[in-house]
Amino acid sequence: MNQIDMLPCVQIDADLTPMNTFGLPATAKHLIRVRSAEEARQAHAFLTGHPEGISNLSLILGGGSNLVLGGEPLDIVLKVEIPGRRRLRGTEAEPFLLVEAGAGENWHDFVRWTLAQGCPGLENLSLIPGTVGAAPVQNIGAYGLEVAERIESLDALDLSSGELKRFDSAACRFGYRDSIFKRHPRRWLITTVRFRLPQHWQPITHYGELARELAGYGFSDSNPPSPLQISDAVIALRQRKLPDPAELGSAGSFFKNPVIEAGQCAALLASHPALPHHSQPDGREKLSAGWLIDQCGWKGRRLGPVGCHAQHALILVNHGGASGADILRLATNIQEDVFNRFGVNLEPEPVFA
Ligand code: EPU
Repeated sequence: MNQIDMLPCVQIDADLTPMNTFGLPATAKHLIRVRSAEEARQAHAFLTGHPEGISNLSLILGGGSNLVLGGEPLDIVLKVEIPGRRRLRGTEAEPFLLVEAGAGENWHDFVRWTLAQGCPGLENLSLIPGTVGAAPVQNIGAYGLEVAERIESLDALDLSSGELKRFDSAACRFGYRDSIFKRHPRRWLITTVRFRLPQHWQPITHYGELARELAGYGFSDSNPPSPLQISDAVIALRQRKLPDPAELGSAGSFFKNPVIEAGQCAALLASHPALPHHSQPDGREKLSAGWLIDQCGWKGRRLGPVGCHAQHALILVNHGGASGADILRLATNIQEDVFNRFGVNLEPEPVFA
């Protein structure tokens, strides 16, 4: 197959503005919707038959919630819309519950569905925008849990060979907001993700902000919250603090929290005693990008149509009508200020296309 109109679901000159949570304008010459593993194979067959092959693939798109579109027209965009969710096992004899979901499922709806099924374990990750298939790509994390801790395996189509491969959790090479899929953009199209959820569930409530929220509702060690109550608390927290992408465009945290050597951290603490820092298993120290940016006076500040969110300096927002170039200019200004003041490099979290 090498005729794009032979594919089941192709849109020509598609507007990508509503498909990214920043609300940045861009178009795709060919937007191919992929609704099953079979359609993913057909898209691969098309790409290999195309004169420039896979090099014409600009982007694999999920919910567009971790994405900065530069504005140049993209050539081929594969939009993953594979549906489906089911329990695989769940007997008393099994030490874990397994649930499986298509990569195109909405992440938050999937989390709430697992809770309704009596399969807790993902509640700390409630209300994170995006899709099930994008969750492992950047190893989403919040309130003391990373999705890597819950992934049993996933299936991904290798767009360079056309082979469908199963990755166990170790093969995904998860790191902080990182995975093998993020390090090789446009190579792997994730079709299905399997989650291993604890049968003997324990609440994860050590993250300071969540602990305070739960204490405010009267929960304690002797009156612990249910999984649904944790999910509700996370939703309330996020709704208070983070902008709703439907009202104010953003991509969540724009920079990763930087991890620096212990010696550099000690030197910074001497001049900035309030610097928040968290020791890592490898002896290095993780800093709070939000705090560093806030200290540079960026919180609530605007630069043209973009700016830093008034409630959280780490969230860059589109106040309306912004382009990818506006976001990049703001990001560069922030990086320079933080580097000049603290000598720390901030690395962006989103994918650029
Ligand atoms: N802070 C400030 N000023 C600000 C923002 C934060 O001083 O404007 C300080 C806070 O007071 C706190 C520290 O920075 O001491 C950390 O802030 P917060 O607890 O809000 O967490 P974060 O490190 O900014 C991370 C994740 C979020 C996740 C939250 C909750 C990253 C880059 N971000 O944010 O993930 O929801 O923890 O677990 O790791 C995302 O990745 O898109 C995301 C939203």
